[in-house]
Amino acid sequence: MEIRSVAVIGAGTMGAGIAQICAQAGWQTNLFDAYPEGLEKGMGNIEAFWDKGIARGKTTPEQKEEWSSNLNPFSDMVAAVRDVDMVIEAVPEILQIKARVFHVLGEETKESCLLATNTSSLSIADIAAASGRPDKVIGMHFFNPVPIMKLLELVKHDLCSEETISLAQSAGDAMGKTTILVKDVPGFATSRLGVVLGNEAIRMLADGVASASDIDTAMRLGYKHPMGPLELSDLVGLDVRRDILNNLAESFQDDSYLPHPLLDALVKEGSLGKKSGQGIYDWSDGNKSDRDSFPM
Ligand SMILES: NC(=O)c1ccc[n+]([C@@H]2O[C@H](COP(=O)([O-])OP(=O)(O)OC[C@H]3O[C@@H](n4cnc5c(N)ncnc54)[C@H](O)[C@@H]3O)[C@@H](O)[C@H]2O)c1
Repeated sequence: MEIRSVAVIGAGTMGAGIAQICAQAGWQTNLFDAYPEGLEKGMGNIEAFWDKGIARGKTTPEQKEEWSSNLNPFSDMVAAVRDVDMVIEAVPEILQIKARVFHVLGEETKESCLLATNTSSLSIADIAAASGRPDKVIGMHFFNPVPIMKLLELVKHDLCSEETISLAQSAGDAMGKTTILVKDVPGFATSRLGVVLGNEAIRMLADGVASASDIDTAMRLGYKHPMGPLELSDLVGLDVRRDILNNLAESFQDDSYLPHPLLDALVKEGSLGKKSGQGIYDWSDGNKSDRDSFPM
């Protein structure tokens, strides 16, 4: 089986990016959002991305025209998913919302349709169960910004069929991504390694090993990481990282995953990272600088 048409459910940060690369892959792409303003914003973001590409000489107007003709906004989910070969869900990270979507997908899509979820932390098996067709369900964990980030983390659960895995791998290739295959365990591969590194860097900061910028420089120049673990934590959001660590500690019944007390204290004082103007770094003027003091 070959993918020719796709529906993307949710037109937010991730859904819009996913729909964009699907349209660029040459697939008929139906983009659905439960809210008219969400759909409008998502379509607008895709258009703006393509226009920026033209302004920078990376995209031609002809390419934009071709890609735009592949992309269709939908305000009716059943109409969006009915005839497509693959659905990728990117609605908010709440199991009840995702389960409702997958229940409808199980009823309304073609028998052969591949059903993917972009969850970053929920159990794929739990989401798959809601569809009534778990063999067709797989995790497709994209990274932000989707059109730029090369990685696609595929997450297989116990009932996922081999056919579903190989179809997802070839879909990833067609979208220009490098795929990795990971078991359905909390934090998959990326989040687990990423948050553990960030938590250890925060422990080092609290222990006075070095300043935040020196710890980040250690990993950038010593290990060729494009960005240090503390800066990355600030960009992702310290509240998001704390929640993932708590989830890992609970799922694995292992306190070594618990967020360091400094991370908890930063979140408690409202220092959530770049989005709040202050986190591990001070971002108040839009650039990062080391803070004079920490809440511990
Ligand atoms: N933002 C990231 O960096 C990132 C990275 C990887 C994975 N994810 C995952 O992707 C998913 C989406 O995240 P996001 O950041 O794009 O969220 P978002 O809030 O930007 O977008 C969610 C969209 O879903 C729409 N929506 C809400 N309920 C819906 C429903 N029932 N049916 C259809 N649309 C609905 C909203 O209107 C909104 O446009 C989450 O599972 C998240 O964990 C996010």
